[in-house]
Amino acid sequence: KRRKTTGEIRAMKGTGRPIVSLTAYTTPIAKLFDPHVDFLLVGDSVGMVMYGFESSLAVTLDMMIAHGAAVMRGAEKACVIVDMPFATYQESPAQAFRNAARVMVETGCDGVKIEGGPEMAETIRFLTERGIPVLAHIGLTPQSINAFGGYRARGRSQAEADHIMAGARAVEEAGAFAVVIEGTLEPLAQAITEASGIPTIGIGASVHCDGQVLVSDDMLGLFSDFKPRFVKHYARLAPQIAEAAESFAADVRARSFPAPEHTYQPKKDGPAT
Ligand code: KIV
Ligand code: NA
Repeated sequence: KRRKTTGEIRAMKGTGRPIVSLTAYTTPIAKLFDPHVDFLLVGDSVGMVMYGFESSLAVTLDMMIAHGAAVMRGAEKACVIVDMPFATYQESPAQAFRNAARVMVETGCDGVKIEGGPEMAETIRFLTERGIPVLAHIGLTPQSINAFGGYRARGRSQAEADHIMAGARAVEEAGAFAVVIEGTLEPLAQAITEASGIPTIGIGASVHCDGQVLVSDDMLGLFSDFKPRFVKHYARLAPQIAEAAESFAADVRARSFPAPEHTYQPKKDGPAT
């Protein structure tokens, strides 16, 4: 079996078949999602959902490489895209290439994702022309949270909507194989999807995008510090896990675990082992 390519993801534009993606950070979750998604996204959301960071800004390249490699060990048919973390690509196209090449080589993944619109076009072109497929990310871009403030939906003012639309055009022109649109008003996300020659992957960007992605821990009801409007819980794992811990603790305290079936005994007429 071989993994789906970024070219095949791009070619899904206009087929009417929605593109499905979930984030993954570990091998076992990658294995479980792999048969069901077109691509696995190793998001820098890993910092918030797995490390308890308050934002994605403190995530390092080494963390992304470790989680990217873990996901690759669980992926057989899905394309795997790894997020470039904050401050590893914004400085210059050369910096972006050096770091993205490390991610590609050390994980074996199929492409990288970078946040930004027109200001990232030169970098996207630099990477794609040198063999690194790029998934762009516009609208609400969490790595810019200090400059643009808050996780509010984007595109309410005409100026902001124009900037996001210009970003969509710029990243397509620069060679991105697809573009994530995050936290953006429905009419704008729809207009971008209609105007764009590459697939749009929405998260909080309405049903009109060419595909959808969710953060797995949100979707699984595992990360429950807060729930943005755009999240739907397809499972509620947090209470199940808490109940399992509670039951284990009660069993240990009651000496009802381990039971005889969990316990090693010496063989009847052999040496004690
Ligand atoms: O880091 C992430 O999980 C992402 C998705 C939300 C698109 O960038
Ligand atoms: Na991200």
